[in-house]
Amino acid sequence: MPLFRSPRGTRDLLPPERTAFMRLERIAARLAAQYGFRPIETPLFEQTGVFERGVGEVTDVVEKELFRLAPRSDEGETWALRPEPTAGLVRAYIQHGMQTWPQPVRLTTTGPMFRYDRPQAGRYRQFWQFDVEVFGDPGPAVDAELIELAVRFHTEAGLEAPDVYLNSIGDDACRPAYVEALAAFYLERIDRLPRLERERLERNPLRLLDSKDPSMVELNAEAPTITGRLCDACAGHFAAVRQHLDAVGVRYSVDPRLVRGLDYYTRTAWELFPAGARGTQSALGGGGRYDRLVERLGGRATPGIGFGIGLDRVLLALEAQGAPPESEPVPLAVVVGADPAGTRERLRIATELRAAGLTVRADLAQRKLGRQLEGAVRDGARFAVIVGDDLADGLVQLRDLGAASQKPVPLADLPALLRRKSGAAQ
Ligand code: HAM
Repeated sequence: MPLFRSPRGTRDLLPPERTAFMRLERIAARLAAQYGFRPIETPLFEQTGVFERGVGEVTDVVEKELFRLAPRSDEGETWALRPEPTAGLVRAYIQHGMQTWPQPVRLTTTGPMFRYDRPQAGRYRQFWQFDVEVFGDPGPAVDAELIELAVRFHTEAGLEAPDVYLNSIGDDACRPAYVEALAAFYLERIDRLPRLERERLERNPLRLLDSKDPSMVELNAEAPTITGRLCDACAGHFAAVRQHLDAVGVRYSVDPRLVRGLDYYTRTAWELFPAGARGTQSALGGGGRYDRLVERLGGRATPGIGFGIGLDRVLLALEAQGAPPESEPVPLAVVVGADPAGTRERLRIATELRAAGLTVRADLAQRKLGRQLEGAVRDGARFAVIVGDDLADGLVQLRDLGAASQKPVPLADLPALLRRKSGAAQ
């Protein structure tokens, strides 16, 4: 047993998994740039109030899952690790006066998030999200654009198009009446509610609809929906979002009870699940509109919308689909030598080849040539550059490890020759 292990609910991304993550990060960065999002990075922790006010105090994420950092100074601030990026991005939008930039402002970030949740398959205490946000565009077209982007990310990653569940959760004009109807529904059935949900009923009845408690599933299936209660403006907005989705060929199902677990949403809300596999723990991503959040965090009223995709879950879905693991980069050549002690020459030649842009490793262990060649084969290299006595004449031996053939090559010609060969392999 090792003395220390990674904390419960976290895991080390070993090279094969980190490589697979990097592939997803590259797809995310490429798509985000293609769709006009600009990269941004905010701290992994924020003042606790950013999340309490932003995400909402009566949410699982803040009540139960926030990693609060123990204060250790007299700065008078308390901090928490970010459970999601949106609240921090809104804080940054306000802090840096992005309201004065040309609107809309489109931002993207990808990185780790932290939720102190009960660890289980697909639910970690540290997980990664690809996130995009648009400030200053009330929609409805951008709503559809983001959903299409979220779907495209999955298909470009190699997954079957995910199932999209969509709803409008109204705004300040129509939601209060709906929340009242919902509260009345639950009050009539109060004896069927678990203790936490009873407490929440007073403060945030909407939360009960996305309760993870299994005893709530049946009850929630009978709960009133918002659909018929949307005000004209919200109903019109929702209808237009759907028309735009049709225009870009995104298939979706309307789920009139979808509310999402964070408090900041208004109007459009959606979640994505692996095709044909909707479960409480399996959402690949989710997003929605938050037209009041900038104000709630102290800025000027500005509409906003965004989504987050869980990269850990995308990888799990790829695995479940039987996708082959991502291959790690292999060196084109390994520089080996007849003299085990000749590490200076091997390092110098490899350095020159790398300076010429080639992917090359030097065998720097002082071991026999046979062992060095075995290592090169194990690495999957196509060539071994063998340094021997003929170096005095400016020559090395270039061995094709697949063909087991070998020929002398002037050192000066080596970069161009290897570059040609690596080009031929592509
Ligand atoms: P969220 O639905 O809480 O939304 O999280 C987005 C995605 O992160 C989930 O669909 C899931 O794939 C992944 N995720 C969440 N918790 C975990 C966990 N414990 N372990 C592994 N993966 C997890 C948000 O975070 C919003 N900020 C999305 C958004 C952006 N809305 C507007 N803009």
